[in-house]
Amino acid sequence: MKTKLLFLLITICCLSCKQGTKKQTSSTEDTLSATIDSTLLTAVKQYKFLAKQIDSGQYPKTYHAKEDRLETSNSGWWCSGFYPGTLLYLDEAVNAPDLKQEAQRVLEDLKKEQSNTSTHDLGFMMYCSFGNANRLEKNPEYEKILLNSAKSLSTRYNDTVKAIRSWDSAPWNKAGDDDLVVIIDNMMNLELLFWATKFSGDSTYYDIAVNHANTTIKNHFRSDYSSYHEVIYKEENGEARAKITNQGTADESAWARGQAWGLYGYTATYRETKDKKYLEQAQHIADFLINHPNMPKDYIPYWDFNAPGIPDALRDSSAASIIASALLELSSYSEGDKKENYQTIAKTILEKLLSDEYLPKVGENGGFILKHGVGNMPNKTEVDTPLSYGDYYLVEAMIRYKEMNQ
Ligand code: GLY
Repeated sequence: MKTKLLFLLITICCLSCKQGTKKQTSSTEDTLSATIDSTLLTAVKQYKFLAKQIDSGQYPKTYHAKEDRLETSNSGWWCSGFYPGTLLYLDEAVNAPDLKQEAQRVLEDLKKEQSNTSTHDLGFMMYCSFGNANRLEKNPEYEKILLNSAKSLSTRYNDTVKAIRSWDSAPWNKAGDDDLVVIIDNMMNLELLFWATKFSGDSTYYDIAVNHANTTIKNHFRSDYSSYHEVIYKEENGEARAKITNQGTADESAWARGQAWGLYGYTATYRETKDKKYLEQAQHIADFLINHPNMPKDYIPYWDFNAPGIPDALRDSSAASIIASALLELSSYSEGDKKENYQTIAKTILEKLLSDEYLPKVGENGGFILKHGVGNMPNKTEVDTPLSYGDYYLVEAMIRYKEMNQ
């Protein structure tokens, strides 16, 4: 009788403890969901303010607070797709027809880049913009533009190296005329190629993307799964003759945004191929980032994991947004502890980014959503400023979080 009573008490206690934990988890999730809802509404106001300052043919790049000056680019800059992409995401999330109209206006100008063969960044430029527009509302004109963009990007593929050329020339890296430079960022352009094969049925684009991803696994990664920024290949035989950096603190360092591009790129490559090799690569990169001794507790990385001056070095909010968005997707393909861990860390990042430290008041920060990005530290440009891609991946991460916690 005594034993029975004890068993009953233990069972009741366990059940109530379990319920307590569950309640706590769902209430923190609810808090973040509510914060996301209000941030999205504020972001709409910010982008309306930003849009008022943008003339035709201009694209927001960053904001110089000291001079109260917005810096813009033309459509050929690698970031041109993020502004229309963010406008479309905001409309998708909270129904903002003014922003959708602004996106459509911008796309009219951006479409000329479909025939640009001088950059590898067409994935960023055209897939974040027209890719989203077409995902939300199928449009034969947008499909044609996306396919032409994929064709333009494919012209940069070299079948000896089995990679897509990133930069045409990079004299500051000592690359010669017969060299082919690939940066880790290029993993982000593959989604456009995967889309092109799905749309056209022509496997050429898929094969280029897979070859590029495989060559990058082979040559860009160190044994701890951190990645080099740049690999310089000999065009004649594909030999990786140098591994260096352009935006990191040193050739052997782990530049934070580069690691984020790799994480996101291999997660997307797994989504498109279902080849476990890419899932494992993405998980290895995630684990490198998460467990790095220089990763702060709030998971907003320093601009470089080996930056001089840590713990006083600057954080890069853009790398944090990309990591949060990628981890949310990666968690959906992962199981057990990994799944839970990736979700928890993405949530921790979002909680921090959606705080007053990183979010400006409406009308501040030039109209951008997120503060404290680091564009190019060695070049001393866009240091501790808003960045259009920080905004884009933050909004994407918020949407992903909401979809996963409905
Ligand atoms: N793709 C250039 C950068 O991440 O700065």
